[in-house]
Amino acid sequence: MKEEIISLKNEAIAQIMEVNSITELENLRIIYLGRNGKLTNLIKKLKEIPNDKRKETGILINDTKNSLNEIISSQKNKLSNSSRKWFDPTIPGVKPKMGNLHLVTQAIREISGIFEKIGFVRVRYPEIEWDYFAFDVLNMPITHPARDEWETFFIDSEVNPKYGQIVLSPHTSSGQVREMLRVKNPPIRMLNIAKCYRRQSDVSHSQMFHHFEGLVIDENISIVNLRGTLDYFAYNFFGKDRKTRIRPYNFRFTEPSFEVDISCDICNGKGCKLCKEGWLELGGAGMVHPNVLKAGGIDSKKYSGFAFGWGVERTYMMKAGIKIPDLRYLYSYDINVIKQF
Ligand code: PHE
Repeated sequence: MKEEIISLKNEAIAQIMEVNSITELENLRIIYLGRNGKLTNLIKKLKEIPNDKRKETGILINDTKNSLNEIISSQKNKLSNSSRKWFDPTIPGVKPKMGNLHLVTQAIREISGIFEKIGFVRVRYPEIEWDYFAFDVLNMPITHPARDEWETFFIDSEVNPKYGQIVLSPHTSSGQVREMLRVKNPPIRMLNIAKCYRRQSDVSHSQMFHHFEGLVIDENISIVNLRGTLDYFAYNFFGKDRKTRIRPYNFRFTEPSFEVDISCDICNGKGCKLCKEGWLELGGAGMVHPNVLKAGGIDSKKYSGFAFGWGVERTYMMKAGIKIPDLRYLYSYDINVIKQF
C-alpha cells in the first residue's frame, strides 16, 4: 500500500503542476481528495491493513493529503495572481499629462508679438504704485471726480508729500510718465503690459486683471498714426475682416480722447444681441495731453503722441471662438477650466 500511496502522490503532483485554470485545479482536487477521491478511498482501505502497519500507513496518507492540499492552494494563488499581474509589453505607455500656457500668458505673448513687429518695446512698471504716477501726472488732480471711476485700492500708508498715497495701480497708464522719464528723448514706443487692480468683481470683471498700454511719442504724431496702429492690431489679432472705429470720449490724460470699438464678429457689424449696433467696445485711447508730456519732461511743442490702454482678458475674449461665461474663472485654479484653452 505504501507504494500505491507514493505513486498516487507523484501522479497527483504532476497533474496539479500542469493545470492552467482554477476549474481544472478544482476537478483534480475532487479526483484525489474529494469524498470519493483516490486518496480518500485509500483511507477507507486502512482497516484492511494489518495492525502493526496501520499506524505508519495512516501517517503517510495524512502527510500525502496535507502536501497535496498545500500544493493545490499554492497553485490556486499563482493562477489567480498571474491573471492580475499579466504584463503586456506591447501596450502603449501612459503619457504624462502635458501642461499648457495659461490663457492670459498666451494672450500677452500674442499681443506683444504683434506690437514688437512694428517697433514697440515691452516694459512693465510697478503694480504697487504712487498716487502720483497713477493719477497726478495724468492730469487728474486729487479732487477730480474721475479718480473715483477707477475704484482704486488704496494702501494704508504714510502720505508722501510729493507722491501721495500708495495704490494698487488701477491701469497701465501709470507707466506713461515713468517711461518718459526713463527714455528722456523721444522717440518712445512703449508697450506696457501689467497687472491692474480695481474694486469690482462680477462676471465680466475680476479685481485683478491685465492691461496692455501703447504709448508712442515722436515728432509729428497725429490721430492718423493712432488709427493706423489700431487697424494694424485689429487686422493681425482679430482677423482681416474686422474693422475698428473711434468714438469721442473723455480721459483727463488724452486730448482728444476716444473709445475704440471693433466690429462684431457674430453679426458682422449689422447689430445683434451681443453687441451695440454691430460694435464691441475694446477700450480707451487718445492723443497724449500736453500736461502729461510736461510731467514726463517732454517738450510738447516739439513732440506729440498717442496712447491706448485695453484689458488683456477682455480683448482676448473678443476673439472669435472664445467664450468664458465668467471672467473670474480664469483665476480660479480649477484645472478643468484652465485646460480648455
Ligand atoms: N487708462 C485708461 C483706462 O483705464 C485707458 C486709456 C489708456 C485711455 C491710454 C487713454 C489712453 O480705462
